[in-house]
Amino acid sequence: MIELLKIEQKYYQGNLPINVFSNLKLQINEPKIIGIIGPSGSGKTSLLNIIGLIENPKSGSYFFRDQDCLKMNNLRKTEFRKKNIGYIFQNNQLLEDFNVLENVALPLILNGENYKNSCEIAKDFLDIFGLAERIYFKPGLLSGGEQQRVAVARAMIKKPQLLLADEPTGSLDDETADLVFKYITEISRKNNTLSIIATHNFKFIKKLDICFKVEKGMLIEI
Ligand SMILES: Nc1ncnc2c1ncn2[C@@H]1O[C@H](COP(=O)(O)OP(=O)(O)OP(=O)(O)O)[C@@H](O)[C@H]1O
Ligand SMILES: [Mg+2]
Repeated sequence: MIELLKIEQKYYQGNLPINVFSNLKLQINEPKIIGIIGPSGSGKTSLLNIIGLIENPKSGSYFFRDQDCLKMNNLRKTEFRKKNIGYIFQNNQLLEDFNVLENVALPLILNGENYKNSCEIAKDFLDIFGLAERIYFKPGLLSGGEQQRVAVARAMIKKPQLLLADEPTGSLDDETADLVFKYITEISRKNNTLSIIATHNFKFIKKLDICFKVEKGMLIEI
């Protein structure tokens, strides 16, 4: 389903080169739930950004089904992301100019659904996340756990083939983290979504199908 080969990623901070990936390989054939762990700065966000077509690696190849992702131009990448990829960012990135309902409806609107239908679908979806009472709030007025549930809803509403979640439970208390994790895994399984979750939480790692550790610029299955 996805195959990354010989991925090399390197950044410069001033003149100082930061080698994040040297010869990274990742092959996943079915829509499973995958965990990525690794210390801070090891490259988890960079990896999700490469898989999510937000960042280009320095070299290597990346196929998503039969699509050669790194050969796409920017317009094609945007279209591909809109259609196939849901992303839960490390810091939410909810849009403060829009209310909760609109934040969650937006991926449908961007995929061509009309505003009214998108809002109706988003309303029903937010109900599942226990957020029916919050739909007209601006994200900044919600608690951290509520914001995170909105971010999960926004990433999953279009039933993406691929979900990328960057420490989705990082700043949450245990109970809320359990809830957010439950939503992500249950909806992923129901929709046959390949989900890749970067997390520090070992309790969750045990419940995932496959887990990799980022080490020395490569992925090691654990
Ligand atoms: N755009 C960039 N320019 C320069 N350096 C970068 C850039 N993006 C990431 N880095 C560096 O690459 C390394 C990997 O960063 P990344 O954000 O992927 O780590 P991470 O594993 O997600 O860490 P955390 O657990 O803290 O979120 C870090 O040392 C970071 O400083
Ligand atoms: Mg990160």
